[in-house]
Amino acid sequence: MAVVARQTVSSAMVPDGATVLDNLPSPVLVVDEGDLLVFLNNAAEVFFARSAAQACGMPISALVMHDSPLFLLLQQVRAGGGSVTEHDITLSSPRFHHDDVTVIGTPIENSGHIVLTFTDVKAAKILDRQLAFRSAARSVSGMAALLAHEVRNPLSGIRGAAQLLEEAVSGNDRELAILIRDEVDRIRALVDRMQVFDEKPAGYKPVNIHRVLEHVRALAENGCAAGLRIIERYDPSLPSVWGNRDELIQLFLNLVKNAAEAIHDAGEEGGQGQIVLETSYRPGLRLSAPGSAGRRHLPLVVTVSDTGGGIPDAVRAHLFEPFLTTKVTGSGLGLSLVAKIVDDHGGIIEVESRSGLTSFTLHLPVVAEESGLVA
Ligand SMILES: Nc1ncnc2c1ncn2[C@@H]1O[C@H](COP(=O)(O)OP(=O)(O)O)[C@@H](O)[C@H]1O
Ligand SMILES: [Mg+2]
Repeated sequence: MAVVARQTVSSAMVPDGATVLDNLPSPVLVVDEGDLLVFLNNAAEVFFARSAAQACGMPISALVMHDSPLFLLLQQVRAGGGSVTEHDITLSSPRFHHDDVTVIGTPIENSGHIVLTFTDVKAAKILDRQLAFRSAARSVSGMAALLAHEVRNPLSGIRGAAQLLEEAVSGNDRELAILIRDEVDRIRALVDRMQVFDEKPAGYKPVNIHRVLEHVRALAENGCAAGLRIIERYDPSLPSVWGNRDELIQLFLNLVKNAAEAIHDAGEEGGQGQIVLETSYRPGLRLSAPGSAGRRHLPLVVTVSDTGGGIPDAVRAHLFEPFLTTKVTGSGLGLSLVAKIVDDHGGIIEVESRSGLTSFTLHLPVVAEESGLVA
C-alpha cells in the first residue's frame, strides 16, 4: 500500500515531457515524416518568432528559407537513421536572423519524426575570445614588467651621467649632452606609460558603475568626445561592481575615446554621430571561467557603442593585442589596457561591429556575499 501511495505522489509531481521541453532554454522542434512541424517548445517560438499554434501543421519551409542547410540535414537524418550535427549554420527569414547556430537532428524511433535542437554557439565563443584577451593582457603586462626592470634603472644612470657632462663641457658637446638627457626623458615617459600594465590591482571595493560612467562622460565631453552626443541608458537598480574605480575609469575612457575617434573618422561629427553608454542586469550569464575554480557569475552588463565606421576587418582578430593600431598617431595600447583591466576584474568583454554600429560589451561580477570571487 505504502509503495502505491508513494508512486502516486511522485508521478503527480513529475512534469510531462512537453513541460520539461518548454522550460529548456534551447529551441527544440519536431517535424513529422512529411517535414510538417508538429511541436515547438517555448524557446523555439522565440527563436523562430512564431507561436506554436501558428506554426504547427505548417511545413518547415514556412519557417526558414528554401535553401537552408536544415533541409539537407533532415535528408541526412532520414537516410542515415542516426543523429546528425551541423555546425556554423545561419538561419534567417524576414522575422529572425541567427548566425553561428549548431543544429542536431535526431530521429524518433519507429515514427518518422525528427527532433531538431538548436544551440546558439555565439555565447560559447565568448569564452574562446576571452582566452585571447587574457593572453593579450599577459603579454603586455610581461613587457611592461621587463621595461620597468631592465630599462628604468639604466636610464637613471645615463641621465645622471649626461647631466654631469652637461656641466663639464661646453659648446657643441654640451648640446649633445642635453640631447641625451631629453631623449632619456622621452624614453622614461614611455616606460612610465607602460607602467599601468605592470601594476597589480589593489584597493578593490564596491564601485557604483554609474558614477564611473558619469565621470567618464564628463571627461570625454570636455576632451576626446567634445561636440559628440553621448547618450546614457542606465538601469538604476544596478548593484555595485567589485572593482578599482581608477582602473574602471581608465577602461571606459579608452572605449569612449575609441568610439569618438571612430565617429570622427567616419566624418559624422556634425550630424548623427553618437556614443551610447548602457547598463543592464542579466542574471543569466554564468561561465566556467578559465583559470578559476568554480563558475563565475557575471550579471552586470555595460555597453559602450558608437555609430562610427566599424572595426576594420584586418584588425579584428588581433584587436586586443598591444601596439596594434590603424591610426596615424595611435599607440595601439588602449584596448590591451582594457583587456588587462577586464581581466583584473574577473570579467569578460565582447565586441560586435559593423559599419555604423560598434559595441563593446563588458560582463562584470557584482559584489555578492556568496561569490567566492569577491571574498
Ligand atoms: N569603436 C571602434 N570603432 C572602430 N575601430 C575601433 C574601435 N575601437 C578600436 N578600434 C580599432 O582598434 C584599434 C586599436 O585600438 P586601441 O588599442 O585603442 O589603439 P589606438 O586607439 O591607439 O589605435 C584602433 O586603431 C582601431 O582600428
Ligand atoms: Mg585607443
